[in-house]
Amino acid sequence: MGLVKAMNERRSIRAFRAEPVPKETIEEILRLTVHAPSAINLQPWEFVVVTGEEKERLGRRLIKAFKEKQIACSPGNVKPLPKTYGKRGAKTLELMKPFFEEMGVDIDRYINEGSCNFYGAPVAIFLCLDDSFPEARMVDIGIALGYLVLAAHEFGLGTCPIGLITAYEDEIKDLLNIPENKNVVIGVALGYPDSNIPINRFKSQRDNLEKFIRWID
Ligand SMILES: Cc1cc2nc3c(=O)[nH]c(=O)nc-3n(C[C@H](O)[C@H](O)[C@H](O)COP(=O)(O)O)c2cc1C
Repeated sequence: MGLVKAMNERRSIRAFRAEPVPKETIEEILRLTVHAPSAINLQPWEFVVVTGEEKERLGRRLIKAFKEKQIACSPGNVKPLPKTYGKRGAKTLELMKPFFEEMGVDIDRYINEGSCNFYGAPVAIFLCLDDSFPEARMVDIGIALGYLVLAAHEFGLGTCPIGLITAYEDEIKDLLNIPENKNVVIGVALGYPDSNIPINRFKSQRDNLEKFIRWID
C-alpha cells in the first residue's frame, strides 16, 4: 500500500475484534516505528506492550480508576482555549453523535470507559519516555506515534491513540511495574477493526489547509 493512501485512509478505531494480533506483527510494526527520526538519534522511546489476560486486567483496573476519579477525555489546556480549537472538538463530537445513537450508547461513557479499556483491543501499547529528558523530547514520541499508527494501518490493523490514560499513570505504573523514572506519554489501542460497529465508519474532518498556514515569501 502506498504511504499517501495510508495517510488518507487511516482513522482512529474505537471497536475491535477479540482476535489476537500475532507477536511477530506487533514486532514488525514497532520495527517500522523506530525508523522515526529523533533528535541526535537518541531514540528516546520505550514501548510497553500489553496483551492477553494482562490487557484485560489493565482495562478493568483503569475503568475502576476512571469511576473513582472521574477524569474524562479533555484537551487538558493550561490556559483558556482559543475558540477555534474548542469549536473543532465540539464539531467532531457532533459528527460522531449519529454513530453512537445508532449503537444506542451514551457517547461520554463509551469514549471514557472505552478509552480506559482500549476499546476492547487485544493489544495496548504504552509509549514511555525517561524523565531525564526535557519536554521537547515529547516531539520524538509524537513522531513515533505517527509512524506506529500508519505502520499498523499497512498491516490491516486499527489503532486509537489514548491520551486519557495519562490521568491514570499511577495505576498503570503500579500494575505493569513501570519504573518511577519513566513517564507514560501516550497509550495506543491496537487490533483488528470490528467493521460491524457503526463508530468505525466515522471519519473525522479537517479544516482547510489555509487555516493552518501563514506563508512568508
Ligand atoms: C495525543 C492523542 C491523544 C488521544 N487520546 C484519545 C483518547 O483518550 N480517547 C479517544 O477515543 N481518542 C483519542 N485520540 C484520538 C483522537 O480523538 C483522533 O485522533 C481525532 O479525533 C482525529 O480523528 P482520526 O484519528 O480518526 O483522524 C487521541 C489522539 C491523539 C493524537
